Amino acid sequence: KETNAQLIIDAGQKHFGATICKSCGMIYTASNPEDEMQHVQYHHRFLEGIKYTGWKKERVVAEFWDGKIVLVLPRDPAYALRKVEDVQELADHELGFQQVVPKCPNKTKTFLFVSDEKKVVGCLVAEPIKQAFRLLSEPSGPESSNSKESPRAWQCSNVPEPAVCGISRIWVFRLQRRKRIARRLVDTVRNCFMFGCFLSTNEIAFSDPTPDGKLFATKYCNT
Ligand code: ACO
Ligand code: ZN
Repeated sequence: KETNAQLIIDAGQKHFGATICKSCGMIYTASNPEDEMQHVQYHHRFLEGIKYTGWKKERVVAEFWDGKIVLVLPRDPAYALRKVEDVQELADHELGFQQVVPKCPNKTKTFLFVSDEKKVVGCLVAEPIKQAFRLLSEPSGPESSNSKESPRAWQCSNVPEPAVCGISRIWVFRLQRRKRIARRLVDTVRNCFMFGCFLSTNEIAFSDPTPDGKLFATKYCNT
C-alpha cells in the first residue's frame, strides 16, 4: 500500500513537486523552501544517526550476504550505547512514541542490523518479561483487517500467558522494508536471548504493536 503511494508520488513529482529522498526516505515538496529546509535538517540528522563506523569490539551475532546483526548490551562502551540511543530516537520519532524508558534498562538487549553500506537499517530492543497477553484476532476477515480506523485499539486477552522475551521496539528503515530484515532480527533474538535455547514464538511477545508491527508479527508467528 505504502509502496503504491510512493510510486504515485514519484511518478507525479514533476507536476506536484512532492518527492521522496532516496537516502533518508523523507517525503517533501521540493518547490517549498520551508519543506526543503526541513528536509535538509532531517536528512543530515538521519544519516548521521544511522551511520555505523565499525567498532573495535563489536558483538556480531549473525551475518548475511547483505549485512550483519550486532548486539549491544547495557555495559558496552559509551559509543555503542550512544549509537543505540541515536537510532532509537529516529525510530521513536517516526513512530510518534514518547521516549519510553525501559522497565529494566540494565537488562535490555539491542540488536542492530548493519547494512553493507555501513548503515544501521534495523533495530530491535528486547527485554526479559514473565508474562504477556495474547492479542485477540479481529472478528472481521483478513480482507477488511487493514482498515485504518482505531489503529491501536486491538483487543487483548486478559489471561496472562508465560513469556520470556518482550520486544519493545522493532524498526526497519523505510527504504529497506520487506527485505526480511525484521524477520532476521527476530530470528536472531530467539536464538541469542537465552543462552543455549531457541525461543518458540509463544515465548516472545511484541509490546503495543503499531499496525505495521501487528501485520509483521501475525505473519511472523504463523510461519
Ligand atoms: N504490511 C503487510 N505485511 C507485512 C508488513 C506490512 N507493512 N510488514 C511486514 N509484513 C509481513 C510480510 O508478510 C512479510 O513477508 P513478505 O515481505 O515476504 O510478504 C513479513 O511480514 C516479513 O517482513 P520483513 O521484511 O521481515 O519486515 P520489515 O523488515 O519490512 O519490517 C516492520 C517490518 C519492522 C514492522 C517495519 O515495517 C517498520 O519498521 N515499520 C515502522 C515501525 C513500526 O511500526 N514498528 C513496529 C512497532 S511495534 C513494536 O515495536 C513492538
Ligand atoms: Zn534526504
